[in-house]
Amino acid sequence: MAIESVVVADDEFLNRDLLEEILTRMDKDVRVVKDGVHALRALEERPADLLLTDIRMPGMGGMKLLAKAREKWPEMPVVMMTAYASVESSIESMRQGAYDYLMKPFGIEQVEGLLLRLEERQQLVREVSVLREEVRDRHQAREFLGSTDAMKEVFSVIERAARSTATVLVYGESGTGKELVARALHDSSDRAHAPFIKVNCAALTETLLASELFGHEKGSFTGADEQRIGRFELANGGTLLLDEISEISPELQAKLLRVLEEREFERVGGSKTISVDVRLVATTNRTLLDEVAESRFREDLYYRLNVIPVELPPLREREGDVLVLIKHYLKFFSKEMGCTAKLTKSAEKVLASYSWPGNVRELVNIVERLVVLAGNEQIDEAVVRRCLPELKRASELQMQAETSDNERLLCSLAEIEHKHIQAVLRNCDDNKTEAAKVLGISVRTLHNKVAVASE
Ligand SMILES: Nc1ncnc2c1ncn2[C@@H]1O[C@H](COP(=O)(O)OP(=O)(O)OP(=O)(O)O)[C@@H](O)[C@H]1O
Ligand SMILES: [Mg+2]
Repeated sequence: MAIESVVVADDEFLNRDLLEEILTRMDKDVRVVKDGVHALRALEERPADLLLTDIRMPGMGGMKLLAKAREKWPEMPVVMMTAYASVESSIESMRQGAYDYLMKPFGIEQVEGLLLRLEERQQLVREVSVLREEVRDRHQAREFLGSTDAMKEVFSVIERAARSTATVLVYGESGTGKELVARALHDSSDRAHAPFIKVNCAALTETLLASELFGHEKGSFTGADEQRIGRFELANGGTLLLDEISEISPELQAKLLRVLEEREFERVGGSKTISVDVRLVATTNRTLLDEVAESRFREDLYYRLNVIPVELPPLREREGDVLVLIKHYLKFFSKEMGCTAKLTKSAEKVLASYSWPGNVRELVNIVERLVVLAGNEQIDEAVVRRCLPELKRASELQMQAETSDNERLLCSLAEIEHKHIQAVLRNCDDNKTEAAKVLGISVRTLHNKVAVASE
């Protein structure tokens, strides 16, 4: 964020006036005061992006003001103004945490140079925190694959949506690739060079989430020991992903609605209005309209978010994608582990028939497991079954079903009829009228059949 507001503390009114004029001409919001006490008062009233202070002032001088400001607003840069004669104290002030100093007398050029350096530094601070996030996500293989019609439709919506800044709402079960949609949108938009920031709305308490999103001023709640820049500010110029949006409290829903409508907000405990240019992507694995119907989610917010809906079907409904994904991740993990794992056709078949309740995330984990266990050996059906306990259970069930099929082949029709009648009766809690209805026979016939069988 650019430096927008400055507090100037100087007892020499000529210097104050000069700075007021230069900074006003640069479109800054300037407040000038005559000493440290007044500077603190002004900052308490409304924080600033920069404090410019003289060192020697009657009452509270610059050094004391510096110490207090560092303690209360550690993120706010403090710049000392000094005459040549007191250069030593300006060096001391740098040691105490001042950002820079301005040598008196100075002109517009020096002030401009100072602000430029400051803005560059703030940009760097932001970039560092964005890079930290990137490093955390480094392991992700970012390719977004799919050959089914459902996925082709998703890709085409992403491509069109990337040209706008419209808010996108992504629906899908856990592990279907909702985050990938958000990243793909960001990467193919003209914001690709700017930050991509994400927040999981379900992982934090209401207070922490509010400060995570909007930032906070020091002391705004217990534990807020320092001022903090929120994710909306970090994402400025880029994209913000709000994961599990259905989980936010009514109060935060109201605050979010305002950001979406006006593109501005205040930090928690702060009074300065901050405006941002952020593209919002929200994800949910619930049907938000149901949440609206149950009055758990604001309807107006729902419509603000649902400008461009994207629906990711579960993997079990995109059979055509399963092998594409398996082959991709097989290559990916083989390369990472320096081996050449290969699947046999029958192993492929077994994997393709699995229902993937954990969707693509489960698939990625299982392929990694297979590659680790197989190394350079072929991955055959037996290996797959061993690696996939879920699949083993499914095949055991199938075997049981087959065994009972075999048993059935040795039964007479009468025996089968008897077993079936007993099963239906159990299912109807022994209610004969209902059982007869299910069986499609009269109650009398049912009575007869039961009587015959028990003779
Ligand atoms: N179409 C795809 N192509 C390649 N990889 C995919 C695809 N879909 C998902 N993945 C991978 O599957 C994993 C899960 O995806 P992602 O984190 O985007 O899911 P999600 O829907 O956000 O899940 P959750 O609801 O649990 O947060 C990631 O490793 C992702 O890279
Ligand atoms: Mg996710």
